[in-house]
Amino acid sequence: MVLGVIGCGKMGSALVTGAVRSGVIKPEAVYGMDTIPAAVSHFTAETGAHACDSLVQLAAACDTFLLATKPQDVGPVLKDLAQALQSKPALVISIAAGLKISTLESYLPENVRVIRTMPNTPALVGQGASAFSPGSRATAADSVATSALLSSVGLALEVKESLLDAVTGLSGSGPAYGFLMIEALSDAGVRCGLPRAEATQLAAQTLLGAATMVLQTGMHPGALKDMVTSPGGTTIAGLAALEKNGLRFALIDAVTCATERSIELSNPS
Ligand SMILES: NC(=O)c1ccc[n+]([C@@H]2O[C@H](COP(=O)([O-])OP(=O)(O)OC[C@H]3O[C@@H](n4cnc5c(N)ncnc54)[C@H](O)[C@@H]3O)[C@@H](O)[C@H]2O)c1
Repeated sequence: MVLGVIGCGKMGSALVTGAVRSGVIKPEAVYGMDTIPAAVSHFTAETGAHACDSLVQLAAACDTFLLATKPQDVGPVLKDLAQALQSKPALVISIAAGLKISTLESYLPENVRVIRTMPNTPALVGQGASAFSPGSRATAADSVATSALLSSVGLALEVKESLLDAVTGLSGSGPAYGFLMIEALSDAGVRCGLPRAEATQLAAQTLLGAATMVLQTGMHPGALKDMVTSPGGTTIAGLAALEKNGLRFALIDAVTCATERSIELSNPS
C-alpha cells in the first residue's frame, strides 16, 4: 500500500503516526497533501512521510487515500481526485463525519473503492475506538487494510453502515461524556477535601482502570461491579446514589439523543 493523506490535520497526522509507529506502514510509503503548507511540514516532520504539492502528484504516487479533510471540504477534493485518478484502481478511506458511502461513491469512478470510517478523538493518543463500513466496491483486502490502519491507534470494528450513527452517538461523542464524568468526579473529590490536581488524576485513572479491566478480562461490567461491592460497604452506598440520580438512564439517553442528531445531520431536509 502507498498511502496518500488528503488533509494533514489532527486526525490524518494521528492515524499516520500510529500506523508508522506500529509498523503497519513505512513512512516512505506515505505521502501527505494539504492546502496549508505548514500542516504538511508538521505532518512530514512528525511522521517521516513525503510531502506532495498537489492532488495530481498525490494521485500519481499512491494507491490508497486517507480522506481527512473536514466534511464540508470533501466535495471539491473528491471531484479533483476522480479526475486525477481517471481509470487507476484505488481505495479511498474516508474519516469525514456524517458523509455516506453513497455520497462518497457518487463523486468517484467505478475503479475507486470506498471505505467509510468513524474514528474518535482518543485516536490522537493511541486509544481510539473506531468503526468502519466497506462501500459497495470495496474488497475483503480493503477491510483488512483499513482495520490495520485504525487498529494502530486503538480499537477498530467493522459494522454495517446503518450502524454508524449509533457508533457516532456512542464512541464518536463518547469521549465528551467521559470528560464530563471525570470533571464531575474531580469536583466530588474536591468537595470531599482532595486537592484539585490529585482529584482529577484519581478520577481519570479510575475510569481508565475500570475500562481496562472490562477490555482485558472480557467479563460483564455488572459482574466486575459486583466483585467490588461488599455488603453494607462504601461502594454500594455510592452506587445507590448513582441509581437514585438516574446516571444509568442519563447515559442511555445521551447516546440515543446523539445518535438521533447524527441521523438528522446526515439527512438534511
Ligand atoms: N478530530 C476528531 O476527533 C475527529 C473524530 C472523528 C472524525 N473526524 C473527522 O476527521 C476529519 C478531519 O478532522 P480533523 O480534526 O483532523 O481536522 P483538521 O482541521 O485538524 O484537519 C483537516 C485538514 O484538512 C486540510 N484541508 C482542507 N481543505 C483541503 C483540501 N482541499 N485539500 C487538502 N487538505 C485540505 C486543512 O487545511 C486541515 O489541515 C473531519 O472530517 C472530521 O469529521 C475527526
